Amino acid sequence: MSARSAQKLEDFCASSPNLHAFPLDVRDTENSAAVAKDIIATLGVPDLVILNAGIGRFKKATRFDAGVFRTAFETNVIGMGNALGPIIPEMVKRGSGHIALMGSLAGYRGFPRAAHYAPTKAAVRSLAECLYLDLEDKGIEVCVINPGYVETELTDGLEVPMPGLMPLKPAVDRIIKGLEKGKYEIAFPFLMAMLVKLGVRVSNYSYFFATRWTMGFATEHAHPDSEKIDK
Ligand SMILES: NC(=O)c1ccc[n+]([C@@H]2O[C@H](COP(=O)([O-])OP(=O)(O)OC[C@H]3O[C@@H](n4cnc5c(N)ncnc54)[C@H](OP(=O)(O)O)[C@@H]3O)[C@@H](O)[C@H]2O)c1
Repeated sequence: MSARSAQKLEDFCASSPNLHAFPLDVRDTENSAAVAKDIIATLGVPDLVILNAGIGRFKKATRFDAGVFRTAFETNVIGMGNALGPIIPEMVKRGSGHIALMGSLAGYRGFPRAAHYAPTKAAVRSLAECLYLDLEDKGIEVCVINPGYVETELTDGLEVPMPGLMPLKPAVDRIIKGLEKGKYEIAFPFLMAMLVKLGVRVSNYSYFFATRWTMGFATEHAHPDSEKIDK
Protein backbone atom coordinates (compact mmCIF):
# COMPACT_ATOMS: atom_id res chain seq x y z
CA MET A 1 0.00 0.00 0.00
CA SER A 2 1.31 3.40 -0.94
CA ALA A 3 0.41 7.03 -0.31
CA ARG A 4 2.27 10.15 0.80
CA SER A 5 0.98 10.14 4.41
CA ALA A 6 3.54 7.71 5.86
CA GLN A 7 2.18 7.62 9.40
CA LYS A 8 -1.43 7.08 8.31
CA LEU A 9 -0.20 4.30 6.04
CA GLU A 10 1.86 2.65 8.82
CA ASP A 11 -1.12 2.78 11.20
CA PHE A 12 -3.41 1.21 8.61
CA CYS A 13 -0.95 -1.52 7.65
CA ALA A 14 -0.44 -2.38 11.33
CA SER A 15 -3.99 -3.85 11.23
CA SER A 16 -2.85 -6.94 9.27
CA PRO A 17 0.41 -8.82 8.69
CA ASN A 18 -0.57 -9.02 5.00
CA LEU A 19 -0.37 -5.25 4.58
CA HIS A 20 2.95 -3.54 3.90
CA ALA A 21 3.50 0.20 3.80
CA PHE A 22 5.59 1.70 1.00
CA PRO A 23 5.17 5.49 1.26
CA LEU A 24 5.75 7.44 -1.93
CA ASP A 25 4.75 10.49 -3.93
CA VAL A 26 3.61 9.22 -7.32
CA ARG A 27 4.59 12.54 -8.92
CA ASP A 28 8.26 11.81 -8.19
CA THR A 29 9.66 9.56 -10.94
CA GLU A 30 12.90 8.62 -9.11
CA ASN A 31 11.15 8.00 -5.79
CA SER A 32 8.52 5.83 -7.54
CA ALA A 33 11.20 3.75 -9.29
CA ALA A 34 13.09 3.26 -6.00
CA VAL A 35 9.92 2.23 -4.15
CA ALA A 36 8.91 -0.17 -6.96
CA LYS A 37 12.36 -1.76 -6.70
CA ASP A 38 11.94 -2.03 -2.93
CA ILE A 39 8.49 -3.65 -3.30
CA ILE A 40 9.82 -6.19 -5.80
CA ALA A 41 12.85 -6.98 -3.59
CA THR A 42 10.65 -7.42 -0.51
CA LEU A 43 7.54 -9.14 -1.91
CA GLY A 44 8.39 -10.15 -5.49
CA VAL A 45 6.77 -8.87 -8.66
CA PRO A 46 3.16 -8.00 -7.74
CA ASP A 47 0.34 -10.15 -9.16
CA LEU A 48 -1.97 -7.13 -9.16
CA VAL A 49 -1.14 -3.43 -9.15
CA ILE A 50 -3.96 -0.94 -8.57
CA LEU A 51 -2.92 2.56 -9.61
CA ASN A 52 -5.43 4.47 -7.55
CA ALA A 53 -3.70 7.64 -6.34
CA GLY A 54 -5.59 10.66 -7.54
CA ILE A 55 -6.76 14.13 -6.68
CA GLY A 56 -9.88 15.97 -7.73
CA ARG A 57 -10.04 19.76 -7.93
CA PHE A 58 -13.31 21.33 -8.99
CA LYS A 59 -13.31 24.94 -10.16
CA LYS A 60 -15.17 26.83 -12.80
CA ALA A 61 -13.16 27.29 -15.98
CA THR A 62 -13.65 31.06 -15.55
CA ARG A 63 -11.08 30.64 -12.74
CA PHE A 64 -8.81 28.30 -14.64
CA ASP A 65 -5.59 27.65 -12.71
CA ALA A 66 -2.57 26.31 -14.61
CA GLY A 67 -0.90 25.14 -11.37
CA VAL A 68 -3.93 23.11 -10.26
CA PHE A 69 -4.24 21.66 -13.76
CA ARG A 70 -0.56 20.64 -13.77
CA THR A 71 -0.74 19.03 -10.29
CA ALA A 72 -3.81 17.04 -11.32
CA PHE A 73 -2.06 15.69 -14.42
CA GLU A 74 1.15 15.00 -12.47
CA THR A 75 -0.78 12.96 -9.90
CA ASN A 76 -3.53 11.30 -11.92
CA VAL A 77 -1.63 10.58 -15.15
CA ILE A 78 2.14 11.06 -14.82
CA GLY A 79 1.92 9.25 -11.47
CA MET A 80 0.62 6.16 -13.30
CA GLY A 81 3.49 6.36 -15.76
CA ASN A 82 5.94 6.52 -12.87
CA ALA A 83 4.60 3.20 -11.58
CA LEU A 84 4.17 1.54 -14.98
CA GLY A 85 7.77 2.28 -16.03
CA PRO A 86 9.39 0.00 -13.46
CA ILE A 87 6.54 -2.56 -13.13
CA ILE A 88 5.67 -3.47 -16.75
CA PRO A 89 9.11 -4.89 -17.71
CA GLU A 90 9.08 -7.13 -14.61
CA MET A 91 5.60 -8.44 -15.42
CA VAL A 92 6.56 -8.98 -19.06
CA LYS A 93 9.67 -10.91 -17.92
CA ARG A 94 7.50 -13.14 -15.72
CA GLY A 95 4.76 -13.45 -18.35
CA SER A 96 1.90 -12.54 -16.03
CA GLY A 97 0.35 -9.70 -14.09
CA HIS A 98 -2.75 -7.59 -13.65
CA ILE A 99 -2.73 -3.79 -13.87
CA ALA A 100 -5.79 -1.77 -12.81
CA LEU A 101 -5.96 1.95 -13.57
CA MET A 102 -8.30 4.18 -11.57
CA GLY A 103 -10.27 6.23 -14.07
CA SER A 104 -13.68 7.80 -13.59
CA LEU A 105 -16.99 8.15 -15.44
CA ALA A 106 -15.83 11.79 -15.73
CA GLY A 107 -13.31 10.54 -18.32
CA TYR A 108 -16.03 9.98 -20.94
CA ARG A 109 -17.16 13.56 -21.61
CA GLY A 110 -16.72 17.07 -20.24
CA PHE A 111 -18.64 18.25 -17.18
CA PRO A 112 -19.22 21.67 -15.61
CA ARG A 113 -16.45 22.64 -13.13
CA ALA A 114 -14.39 19.59 -14.13
CA ALA A 115 -11.75 21.21 -16.39
CA HIS A 116 -9.04 20.49 -13.77
CA TYR A 117 -10.10 16.84 -13.36
CA ALA A 118 -12.06 15.22 -16.21
CA PRO A 119 -9.24 15.60 -18.80
CA THR A 120 -6.90 13.59 -16.54
CA LYS A 121 -9.43 10.76 -16.47
CA ALA A 122 -9.92 10.91 -20.25
CA ALA A 123 -6.16 10.37 -20.50
CA VAL A 124 -6.38 7.38 -18.14
CA ARG A 125 -9.11 5.89 -20.31
CA SER A 126 -6.89 6.15 -23.38
CA LEU A 127 -3.85 4.86 -21.50
CA ALA A 128 -5.77 1.76 -20.41
CA GLU A 129 -6.80 0.98 -24.01
CA CYS A 130 -3.21 1.35 -25.25
CA LEU A 131 -1.85 -0.85 -22.47
CA TYR A 132 -4.52 -3.48 -23.07
CA LEU A 133 -3.68 -3.73 -26.76
CA ASP A 134 0.07 -4.04 -26.16
CA LEU A 135 0.12 -6.24 -23.08
CA GLU A 136 -2.70 -8.76 -23.50
CA ASP A 137 -0.54 -11.18 -25.49
CA LYS A 138 2.22 -10.88 -22.86
CA GLY A 139 -0.05 -12.47 -20.27
CA ILE A 140 -0.79 -9.15 -18.57
CA GLU A 141 -4.40 -8.21 -17.84
CA VAL A 142 -5.28 -4.53 -17.97
CA CYS A 143 -8.37 -3.02 -16.46
CA VAL A 144 -9.84 0.45 -16.04
CA ILE A 145 -12.05 1.28 -13.06
CA ASN A 146 -14.60 4.00 -13.84
CA PRO A 147 -16.67 4.89 -10.78
CA GLY A 148 -19.31 7.58 -10.56
CA TYR A 149 -19.49 9.58 -7.34
CA VAL A 150 -18.28 7.69 -4.24
CA GLU A 151 -18.22 8.93 -0.64
CA THR A 152 -14.52 9.54 0.09
CA GLU A 153 -12.34 12.45 1.17
CA LEU A 154 -12.32 13.58 -2.45
CA THR A 155 -16.10 14.15 -2.56
CA ASP A 156 -16.44 15.19 1.10
CA GLY A 157 -17.65 18.78 1.21
CA LEU A 158 -17.96 19.01 -2.56
CA GLU A 159 -20.94 21.32 -2.95
CA VAL A 160 -22.08 20.27 -6.38
CA PRO A 161 -24.88 17.85 -7.28
CA MET A 162 -23.55 14.29 -7.11
CA PRO A 163 -26.17 12.06 -8.77
CA GLY A 164 -25.88 8.40 -7.79
CA LEU A 165 -23.43 9.11 -4.93
CA MET A 166 -22.44 5.71 -3.49
CA PRO A 167 -21.15 4.80 -0.03
CA LEU A 168 -17.56 3.49 -0.08
CA LYS A 169 -18.19 -0.15 0.88
CA PRO A 170 -20.45 -1.17 -2.06
CA ALA A 171 -18.11 0.70 -4.40
CA VAL A 172 -15.11 -1.27 -3.14
CA ASP A 173 -17.13 -4.50 -3.41
CA ARG A 174 -17.90 -3.72 -7.08
CA ILE A 175 -14.21 -3.12 -7.75
CA ILE A 176 -13.10 -6.36 -6.09
CA LYS A 177 -15.80 -8.37 -7.91
CA GLY A 178 -14.80 -6.84 -11.25
CA LEU A 179 -11.12 -7.53 -10.69
CA GLU A 180 -11.85 -11.14 -9.71
CA LYS A 181 -13.92 -11.60 -12.88
CA GLY A 182 -11.06 -10.22 -14.98
CA LYS A 183 -13.23 -7.48 -16.51
CA TYR A 184 -11.60 -4.87 -18.74
CA GLU A 185 -13.84 -2.08 -17.46
CA ILE A 186 -15.43 -1.81 -14.03
CA ALA A 187 -17.97 1.01 -14.33
CA PHE A 188 -20.63 1.84 -11.75
CA PRO A 189 -23.27 2.73 -10.62
CA PHE A 190 -25.10 1.09 -13.51
CA LEU A 191 -27.52 3.92 -14.35
CA MET A 192 -24.85 6.65 -14.28
CA ALA A 193 -22.52 4.49 -16.38
CA MET A 194 -25.30 3.94 -18.96
CA LEU A 195 -26.14 7.65 -19.13
CA VAL A 196 -22.50 8.68 -19.46
CA LYS A 197 -21.91 6.13 -22.22
CA LEU A 198 -25.06 7.32 -23.97
CA GLY A 199 -23.56 10.82 -23.81
CA VAL A 200 -20.70 9.65 -26.03
CA ARG A 201 -23.17 8.59 -28.73
CA VAL A 202 -25.17 11.81 -29.02
CA SER A 203 -24.09 14.87 -30.99
CA ASN A 204 -21.91 17.47 -29.26
CA TYR A 205 -24.69 20.08 -29.23
CA SER A 206 -27.26 17.64 -27.80
CA TYR A 207 -24.75 16.69 -25.11
CA PHE A 208 -23.89 20.30 -24.23
CA PHE A 209 -27.56 21.27 -24.12
CA ALA A 210 -28.60 18.35 -21.91
CA THR A 211 -25.62 18.73 -19.57
CA ARG A 212 -26.02 22.49 -19.17
CA TRP A 213 -29.69 22.08 -18.33
CA THR A 214 -29.08 19.33 -15.79
CA MET A 215 -25.69 19.43 -14.09
CA GLY A 216 -24.63 22.89 -15.22
CA PHE A 217 -27.88 24.59 -14.25
CA ALA A 218 -28.08 22.84 -10.88
CA THR A 219 -24.42 23.61 -10.10
CA GLU A 220 -24.70 27.26 -11.00
CA HIS A 221 -27.91 28.01 -9.20
CA ALA A 222 -27.79 25.79 -6.14
CA HIS A 223 -24.25 26.74 -5.09
CA PRO A 224 -23.07 29.82 -6.97
CA ASP A 225 -19.69 30.07 -5.19
CA SER A 226 -18.99 26.46 -4.33
CA GLU A 227 -15.77 24.95 -5.42
CA LYS A 228 -13.27 22.55 -3.91
CA ILE A 229 -9.64 23.15 -4.64
CA ASP A 230 -6.25 22.11 -3.30
CA LYS A 231 -6.07 21.42 0.46
N1 LIG B 1 -14.54 9.56 -4.89
C1 LIG B 1 -15.07 9.59 -6.10
O1 LIG B 1 -16.23 9.98 -6.30
C2 LIG B 1 -14.27 9.10 -7.28
C3 LIG B 1 -14.95 8.86 -8.49
C4 LIG B 1 -14.25 8.41 -9.58
C5 LIG B 1 -12.88 8.18 -9.47
N2 LIG B 1 -12.23 8.42 -8.30
C6 LIG B 1 -10.80 8.19 -8.25
O2 LIG B 1 -10.49 7.28 -7.22
C7 LIG B 1 -9.14 7.50 -6.78
C8 LIG B 1 -9.09 7.58 -5.28
O3 LIG B 1 -9.80 8.75 -4.88
P1 LIG B 1 -10.67 8.84 -3.55
O4 LIG B 1 -12.02 9.27 -3.95
O5 LIG B 1 -10.52 7.61 -2.73
O6 LIG B 1 -9.96 10.10 -2.89
P2 LIG B 1 -9.14 10.24 -1.54
O7 LIG B 1 -9.93 9.67 -0.42
O8 LIG B 1 -8.71 11.66 -1.49
O9 LIG B 1 -7.88 9.28 -1.78
C9 LIG B 1 -6.83 9.63 -2.64
C10 LIG B 1 -5.66 8.73 -2.31
O10 LIG B 1 -4.58 9.03 -3.21
C11 LIG B 1 -3.40 9.27 -2.45
N3 LIG B 1 -2.58 10.25 -3.14
C12 LIG B 1 -2.94 11.50 -3.57
N4 LIG B 1 -1.90 12.12 -4.13
C13 LIG B 1 -0.85 11.25 -4.06
C14 LIG B 1 0.51 11.33 -4.46
N5 LIG B 1 1.01 12.42 -5.05
N6 LIG B 1 1.31 10.25 -4.23
C15 LIG B 1 0.82 9.15 -3.63
N7 LIG B 1 -0.46 9.01 -3.24
C16 LIG B 1 -1.28 10.06 -3.44
C17 LIG B 1 -3.92 9.82 -1.11
O11 LIG B 1 -3.00 9.63 -0.06
P3 LIG B 1 -2.00 10.81 0.44
O12 LIG B 1 -2.79 12.06 0.44
O13 LIG B 1 -1.54 10.37 1.78
O14 LIG B 1 -0.89 10.83 -0.54
C18 LIG B 1 -5.14 8.93 -0.90
O15 LIG B 1 -4.80 7.70 -0.36
C19 LIG B 1 -8.67 8.77 -7.50
O16 LIG B 1 -7.88 8.42 -8.63
C20 LIG B 1 -9.96 9.42 -7.95
O17 LIG B 1 -9.80 10.25 -9.09
C21 LIG B 1 -12.90 8.87 -7.20
